[in-house]
Amino acid sequence: MTALVPAFIEARRSIRAFTGESVPRDVLDALVEAACLAPAPHHSRPWRWVVIDTDAGKRALGDGMGAQWRVDLAADGVAPERIDELIESSRAKLATAPALALGCLTWDGLDRYPDEKRQRAEWGMALLSLGAAVENFMLSAADRGLASCWVAAPIFCPEEARDALELPPEWLPHAMVVTGYPDPAYVGRQRPPVPLEELRRFA
Ligand SMILES: Cc1cc2nc3c(=O)[nH]c(=O)nc-3n(C[C@H](O)[C@H](O)[C@H](O)COP(=O)(O)O)c2cc1C
Repeated sequence: MTALVPAFIEARRSIRAFTGESVPRDVLDALVEAACLAPAPHHSRPWRWVVIDTDAGKRALGDGMGAQWRVDLAADGVAPERIDELIESSRAKLATAPALALGCLTWDGLDRYPDEKRQRAEWGMALLSLGAAVENFMLSAADRGLASCWVAAPIFCPEEARDALELPPEWLPHAMVVTGYPDPAYVGRQRPPVPLEELRRFA
């Protein structure tokens, strides 16, 4: 990295293994509060957060998302034993993470359009702002010495994730962050340098 990248940005890495120590709820609340300071369209706050730190909650979410994933994998033609393996491994990841923060999107504060094109763009803006919120969450976690990793799963099965946790119908899970205290034995991938000349141009 260049010396111009702030250290707190560089310090956040995806860490996927945790000690068994639980994260106090007031700390989890501080992370969610930081997430909610993210920029969002029209001064809206189209996100809702479900913080899952109980075994029952993790199991319910894992079962709900796993059932849909099983259907999708079978439709892809994946062998049944491989499906079992994948689902079991994913369920174990959720079960061993001290806390899961589920970022949901709602239409609250968003504009409605009569045409599909602008409606999709509006939802896209909400999704972008959820991404910014998730980054705030993870930067704040890193700042407190917590490990975190974004998990894509709910974006593939928002309704199933919502129903597994009996959330209100308008809360649609789209992002999940697993978080906890980092397992000191965890070794992440080396971060490749940023090939600025490929990724950026001035105009
Ligand atoms: C939208 C999104 C979805 C992701 N989903 C997963 C995931 O399902 N499982 C996982 O282990 N990491 C996931 N990641 C983490 C990326 O693999 C990680 O950010 C990337 O490899 C860069 O590493 P770093 O975060 O340590 O800089 C996801 C990241 C993003 C932004």
